[in-house]
Amino acid sequence: MGLGATDRALIEESIEFIENADIDGVLKGLAQGLSKQQRAAVAAHCAIAHAAVLVFPRSVDAMIAELRSSGLSVAGPLPSIVVRDRLSSRYGVPAGQLNVAIVHVHVTANDGVSRMVELFALQKPTGKELGGIAAREYRERNESHIALEVGAPDDVAIKGLRGLLVEHGGLVADGGGYNKAEECTVLYFRRPGPSSGPGSNGQSAEPIGNRRLELRIRGHYATALAEHLVDARTDPATRLLTLMTGAWTTQAVTAAAELGVADLLPGAEDERAPDSIGLLAGRLEVDPDALSRLLRYLASVGLAVRSGESYRLTEMGTLLRRGERHSMRALALMYGGVFYESFGALAHAVRTGREGFAEIFGVGHFDYFAGRPALAELFDSSMAASAQMFEPVPGLADFDGARVVVDVAGGNGELLGQALAHAPHLRGVLFEQAHVLERARERITRAGLADRCDFVSGDFTRSVPASGDVYLLSRILHDWGDQKCVEILRNCAAGMSEGGRLLVVERLLSADGTPSLAVTWDLHMLCNVGGRERTAAEYEGLLAAAGFDLDEVCPLPLGASLLKGRRR
Ligand SMILES: C[S@@+](CC[C@H](N)C(=O)[O-])C[C@H]1O[C@@H](n2cnc3c(N)ncnc32)[C@H](O)[C@@H]1O
Repeated sequence: MGLGATDRALIEESIEFIENADIDGVLKGLAQGLSKQQRAAVAAHCAIAHAAVLVFPRSVDAMIAELRSSGLSVAGPLPSIVVRDRLSSRYGVPAGQLNVAIVHVHVTANDGVSRMVELFALQKPTGKELGGIAAREYRERNESHIALEVGAPDDVAIKGLRGLLVEHGGLVADGGGYNKAEECTVLYFRRPGPSSGPGSNGQSAEPIGNRRLELRIRGHYATALAEHLVDARTDPATRLLTLMTGAWTTQAVTAAAELGVADLLPGAEDERAPDSIGLLAGRLEVDPDALSRLLRYLASVGLAVRSGESYRLTEMGTLLRRGERHSMRALALMYGGVFYESFGALAHAVRTGREGFAEIFGVGHFDYFAGRPALAELFDSSMAASAQMFEPVPGLADFDGARVVVDVAGGNGELLGQALAHAPHLRGVLFEQAHVLERARERITRAGLADRCDFVSGDFTRSVPASGDVYLLSRILHDWGDQKCVEILRNCAAGMSEGGRLLVVERLLSADGTPSLAVTWDLHMLCNVGGRERTAAEYEGLLAAAGFDLDEVCPLPLGASLLKGRRR
């Protein structure tokens, strides 16, 4: 007898799953961050090939015989190395003690297409059990995956699919290889985090194909595979080291910005040749050997590329230059500067729920900046650097019927300037703390828009200027707890008439914790500002408490969203 009752049920479940699976449903469960259109884009390039599960027969040969006798078309066994090695490292059992075979069961799906169930069979050693391996694997189904075959592959399609699955779908690269026998490149992906299915209660298991994804690509795609394997960094110790040393990356980026390295290097497309390292070091007044080591590191993280004996900047690297359109230099100096220092108090913030910034610097960050003009200016410039990329806001906002837009805490006026330039009939009111207001006045004046703008100083927790048709709150609410947010929103509502419009720019957390920039910034808000990022539903609740309806949410660059509200 090859199969126990659990294995038999698992195989039956897998066959039923693969007979009925549709690619949209599979992606919905597995790559939960993908939008409907993105799922359709993946489906346009891929078809379901097989579902895989791990079973634990007493004998692989007996299992095959039993499956054949029940009328199934079965091929194999072949030895499995990838699954054997993963189990070995997950359970700390020497690979030589794990005898894992691959067996294929051919099935015809409901739509007449041929598919397979791939069984990884870990044979139980005679007279012995496998410790807790079988029980845990039955529950967590870590080795269960669904394979998608990429039709008509090329490097561009593969890059696009990987980008969608990782950057939008929330999957992480999880190894891969070139299968010589099948002349096929395979890329594995995994949904991060604990089992999401009912398995987390220890009773029933993760649904089939809800954990891992395999992209099968006919042919040898060496570049795509190499990029995927670098992303995967499959060994947990290496991954952890990379995480632990993330602070070094922050400082390398900041050093390149601070020292002006990025200002002197040509971009990848520039005709001029880069200066030698020696010449560059002379111009920057830095140590040549140390500079070459910094540049080598910057190349390893994708900010520079080698060019002869020197380096050029990649497109990303050029964003660190002073004066570059969309320059992020000021952000690099902030994140590697005061915010970097206060991140050292993250454990304190988690212990107490209070911001680390005040623990390190003695006061909250707005008060700290207010007394330090150079730092305050750098902060405003860093805010403006990302606000520059919110260019779609004026178009999405639809200012047609509006006369006056009030930018509540509009920083140095970058976004309000964009709105006024976009809608020449519009007047603006820039409301800010007094020390920020002067820089906003300078910027709006430089843009030739000062005759259409009033500058008002004040505290939005007390009141905001009345009589606007549209109130803009860009990255304000995430700085504050819920109660303060409702106060600020009520102050906006008080100045508006019924039907007045509210525009909120924020990063939205997904309801299920899917990785995103909002998750990262939420920690930044906790530690450095004392605020938090929120889900769309949480913002809807805050708006409702202040008398607004949320009409629409539109995506913006940098993982942000525009929430459009209306006063009841
Ligand atoms: C995160 S920045 C956002 C700036 C700008 N809206 C943007 O998106 O680039 C927050 C702003 O809130 C302003 N601010 C903080 N406390 C304030 C208060 N009590 N009243 C008015 N403005 C305040 C700060 O000066 C700062 O410019």
